[in-house]
Amino acid sequence: MTLSGCVPYIFVKQTICFRVYFAGLIGLLLFLTAEARIGNSSESPFCTETKECLLYDLLCQTDDYEVRHYDAAKWVTTDEESYVFDKATYTAFMRLFKYINGSNNDGVKIDMTAPVIIKVQEKKRIWQSAIYTLSFLLPSAYQNDPPQPTDNKVYFTDLPDMKVYARTYGGYMVSLTTAYNSMQLKKQLDRAQASYNTEYYYAVGYDSPMKIMNRHNEVWYIAEGEPVCPSSP
Ligand SMILES: *[C@@H]1O[C@H](CO)[C@@H](O)[C@H](O)[C@H]1NC(C)=O
Ligand SMILES: *[C@@H]1O[C@H](CO)[C@@H](O)[C@H](O)[C@H]1NC(C)=O
Repeated sequence: MTLSGCVPYIFVKQTICFRVYFAGLIGLLLFLTAEARIGNSSESPFCTETKECLLYDLLCQTDDYEVRHYDAAKWVTTDEESYVFDKATYTAFMRLFKYINGSNNDGVKIDMTAPVIIKVQEKKRIWQSAIYTLSFLLPSAYQNDPPQPTDNKVYFTDLPDMKVYARTYGGYMVSLTTAYNSMQLKKQLDRAQASYNTEYYYAVGYDSPMKIMNRHNEVWYIAEGEPVCPSSP
């Protein structure tokens, strides 16, 4: 048995399609405004430290996870290889921070946004090093034409429109909590017979280290096919 939480979203999509069909201009406007939803953080309960935040549509949820829809968006990205998650993410974070702090061809300072996402490849063997891919979301003002980075290890990524399974946890995002929560989510998804990309997950952070209380972190797996939200027994 699945919940019908996905229906409102599908319904909206269909409504938009009809409008495109019957009144092209209105449809186009709706389409344009629906793209890359990077919005005021006041619209998100857990974006508390930045002006802008990546917004999403909630498709359905269980006690364990949420299924969300994100629109395509442009990110600034860098890779770091290491045996240690925490070391790699610190180095990569500082490299991206320099980019938004003015190390770009226009010498402009770009506002920090939330969340910061880290793509973590599933390790084949525990003792192998791994490549951690860290990205900052570009603010809406820089989505179309961001200044070129001066560091050649920094590049842009266009993440497509996607549906994700998201699990939320508090405290600090470090290697242990990331590994534990990705494992828990994986178990829950397998139990729900969900289809998702098993090659990697995203570790997702919303808070600076200075924030102590009510910290918010997530882990995402990318959904494949129709997302599932089984109702609790
Ligand atoms: C965000 O929303 C708040 C409250 O609704 C508003 O005061 C503020 O001006 C908005 N900020 C931006 C950048 O639009
Ligand atoms: C950010 O830029 C300012 C100068 O505009 C500089 O003083 C500061 O050290 C830079 N911060 C980092 C972490 O690079």
